[in-house]
Amino acid sequence: MNHHQSILVTGGAGFIGANFVQQRLASGKAGKIVVLDALTYAGNRANFDGVEGASDPARFEFVHGDIRDGALCERLLREHEIRTVLHFAAESHVDRSITGPDAFIDTNVVGTHALLKAARAVWLGGSGVDHRFHHVSTDEVYGSLGAHDAPFSESNQYQPNSPYSASKAASDHLVRAYHHTFHLNVTTTNCSNNYGPFQFPEKLIPLMLVNCLHGKALPIYGDGMNVRDWLHVDDHCRGIELTLQMGRVGEVYNIGGENERPNLEIVEHITAAVDAAFAADSSLRTRFPECPAAQSKPCWSLVTYVKDRPGHDRRYAIDPAKARAELGYRPHETFESGLAKTVAWYLANQPWWRAVMDGSYRQWMERNYAARS
Ligand code: NAD
Ligand code: TYD
Repeated sequence: MNHHQSILVTGGAGFIGANFVQQRLASGKAGKIVVLDALTYAGNRANFDGVEGASDPARFEFVHGDIRDGALCERLLREHEIRTVLHFAAESHVDRSITGPDAFIDTNVVGTHALLKAARAVWLGGSGVDHRFHHVSTDEVYGSLGAHDAPFSESNQYQPNSPYSASKAASDHLVRAYHHTFHLNVTTTNCSNNYGPFQFPEKLIPLMLVNCLHGKALPIYGDGMNVRDWLHVDDHCRGIELTLQMGRVGEVYNIGGENERPNLEIVEHITAAVDAAFAADSSLRTRFPECPAAQSKPCWSLVTYVKDRPGHDRRYAIDPAKARAELGYRPHETFESGLAKTVAWYLANQPWWRAVMDGSYRQWMERNYAARS
């Protein structure tokens, strides 16, 4: 085995990280994948169960640990002769950053810095080795767009509005600074809203899906006209692979879906997809008796307007020109195809979402709803 192709994936047991690892293993690419994950409420060891290659210790290793543990990060980089770090680990949910910002500073800012320090010590400490630190970030660092503003380009000013986006912005700046000051070879991608399998049902799309199936209210914040640029997670992962292959060191690439839609339209698509699935497959009525579609009622009847999220950004949208020109990047999935696959995945994988929702999630959601109603 060529150790030099080993990669460290932080946060690999979360939504995007797990999809990335699964894609890599399926592609048969050479080199071992070492996942470092603290298994917070959002991380799930079971995301690798039954995944081809994940039971082969030459191809995959899971390490339960925290990116803030600098000694552990250094040890993993040395022991596995890691030359590529893919940094996904983060606290990622805006609503949680409003009710409890501290964890966001701890993991996203202090944690990213601990990882950067470890990379610097190991890679730049001696005579130096070829290496890459890829940082996975969000378009939310650019703030909120007005209805007629041009989409975010890489040169937009940083104007983060939530504790989440502020902590991601801080981590982006640290990554940039480690390149300029210490010559660490870094790349950063700032991506729009992802959806797809293995996403924790606190984010808009899986939350609405799961609530439909349970016959629970579909909480629309504010007027439901906030706009996001939705991207299927497979396309994000492909954009990251392209950045590793072709991205220029020190550069930032915005990855988007070319798919801006207001929240109400997203919820309309989800409710229509669930209605259609129940019409086509009568066994769903027995599996999910509380779903309105089980009584031939439209899921849209569950829509409920709730108090707006404080500081709620109005619109995010990505200008994809740079990634297209330099990386040849374009999303493959249309929203219709991506959403249909996602709905089918959640219908087929009830044990997964029930299990991840059984932890601290329920209590947190109850507090969150109580605050909004
Ligand atoms: P997620 O919340 O599903 O997963 C985060 C993972 O990080 C979990 O497995 C968790 O256990 C792990 N983790 C958290 N704190 C840790 C720590 N201190 N040490 C080690 N591991 C820790 O998040 P996601 O949606 O998969 O997002 C992954 C990355 O992509 C994040 O950096 C996020 O900011 C970024 N991003 C997400 C989206 C999106 O729409 N989800 C869009 C753009 C960018
Ligand atoms: P979310 O998935 O939390 O992603 P982000 O805030 O990082 O963009 O939310 C997407 C949009 O959906 C955002 O405008 C907030 C809105 N939203 C609701 O209206 N209701 C909900 O229950 C949730 C979770 C989100």
